[in-house]
Amino acid sequence: MKRVITYGTFDLLHYGHINLLKRAKQLGDYLIVGLSTDEFNAIKGKKSYFSYEERKMLLESIRYVDLVIPEKNWEQKIDDVIKYHVDTFVIGDDWEGKFDYLNKYVNVIYLKRTPEVSTTAIKENLKKETKL
Ligand code: CTP
Repeated sequence: MKRVITYGTFDLLHYGHINLLKRAKQLGDYLIVGLSTDEFNAIKGKKSYFSYEERKMLLESIRYVDLVIPEKNWEQKIDDVIKYHVDTFVIGDDWEGKFDYLNKYVNVIYLKRTPEVSTTAIKENLKKETKL
């Protein structure tokens, strides 16, 4: 059983997220998502539209996702990898190089982001459209 882990906020779930989760799952048999809590998002200077529980429910209904755990801080990744016997850590290439230090514990893979779409872009576009 190969286990894969990824992390993120996954707010206003979009096809870029699904593409990422699909490719992450293809790298193994069991996909864990470390979902940023509302408190951790505040530390990162982010505020999600959907709450942690709402974002968790959405992720849990995706066929590629086997388990959702809370991401509460930057430092928990090594503990998670050990605790859940993770083989591969995956994240989008907007984080390229940032998690190379995990290579000591796990195979680190950066996947190409899906062009154009992002939660931030969706929010901005909706704001613009409602002004018309
Ligand atoms: N992701 C991706 N392609 C996109 C958007 C996101 O592959 N077009 C990936 C990110 O690289 C990350 C995961 O999806 O591995 C979760 O990203 P997240 O930051 O929650 O989504 P974004 O849409 O990038 O949100 P924001 O605009 O708030 O940064």
